Amino acid sequence: MEPESRNNKDVVGDPNEKIQPSSLSPPSPHEFNLDHYQQMLKQTPKMVIIFAAIALSCLVIYHSSITLPFSGGYMRPQTAGSHPANSDADIMWFRDPFSQFDKDDDIQFSCDFFNGNPFDLRNLPNTGFSYVKSNEKTIQFYKFWYNSSMTYPGIHDQDAFNRIKSDPFICNLGLRIRFIDTTYFGGFCQPSRDLNKVCTMHANCCVGLENKVHDIGIMLDDWRKYIKSVANQTTTEGYRGSWTIPQLCRGSFDHPRPPKKNVGQGKKS
Ligand SMILES: *[C@@H]1O[C@H](CO)[C@@H](O)[C@H](O)[C@H]1NC(C)=O
Ligand SMILES: *[C@@H]1O[C@H](CO)[C@@H](O)[C@H](O)[C@H]1NC(C)=O
Repeated sequence: MEPESRNNKDVVGDPNEKIQPSSLSPPSPHEFNLDHYQQMLKQTPKMVIIFAAIALSCLVIYHSSITLPFSGGYMRPQTAGSHPANSDADIMWFRDPFSQFDKDDDIQFSCDFFNGNPFDLRNLPNTGFSYVKSNEKTIQFYKFWYNSSMTYPGIHDQDAFNRIKSDPFICNLGLRIRFIDTTYFGGFCQPSRDLNKVCTMHANCCVGLENKVHDIGIMLDDWRKYIKSVANQTTTEGYRGSWTIPQLCRGSFDHPRPPKKNVGQGKKS
C-alpha cells in the first residue's frame, strides 16, 4: 500500500498518509497547484470534514423533513410555483424550522437581533435564512432588492435590504414581512434563549473560518449535553439548557484570527 500511495498524486489520496511537499518532484505549474491544495488540506482537514458533515446533515434533514407534512405549501425550492426557503451553509438545524413559518406572511426572515415585535422593520434581519411565498408582491420585491445592488454597488445583500426595507415602494407593495424570534432561529449574535424551542442556530456575527468552526463545535457539544439531560428527565419542563457560545467568535470582528495561509476568511453573516 505504501509505495502506491507515494506515487499517488491525487489530492484526496490516502487520508492516513502524511503529505511531504519536500518529496515532490520539481515544480511545474500543475504540480504547484497540487502542492497548494495539499498544503490547504494539511492545514484544514478538520474544517473540511466538519463543513462537509454539516452540509450533508443539513441536506439529509432537509430532504427527510420536507416530504409530507409541509406539502401544503412549504415545498422544496426551485420547483416552479413553490415557495422557496433559503438557508446558509453555516446554519445548524436542530428542529424542523418550517413549523415556525406563518402561511399568511409573504417573506419571513431570521434575525441577527430580534426586538420582540415580529413586524417591526427596525429588527435586524439576517437574510441567511428566509422563507418566501412566491407571488406577484415578492417577485416585485426581489426585483427591487436586486436593483438596489446596482444603486449601491458592492454592498452585501443583507445591508442592501436594510437600506431599502423602509422604502415607499415596499410599503406600497403591501408586502407582509415577518421577522422570526431568535428564540426559534438564533445565532451567535443573539443565541436562542431556550433549547427546548430552538430550531436553527446561525454561526453569524463571526469573522474567520477557524473561529466559526471552533464555535460551531462548541455549539454541537452544548446540544449533545442538552439532549443527554433531556433523555435523563421525565419532563423537559424547568430545564432550559444554555449555550456556552460565542467564544472565539465573540469580538472576532476586531480580532479575526490570522489565518495561516490565505484560506479561511469567513463570510460576515
Ligand atoms: C429594476 O430596474 C429595471 C432596469 O433599470 C427597471 O426596468 C425595473 O422597473 C426595476 N424594477 C423595480 C421593481 O424596481
Ligand atoms: C442519567 O444521568 C446519570 C448521571 O448523571 C447517568 O449515570 C445515567 O446513565 C443517565 N441516564 C440516562 C438514561 O442517560
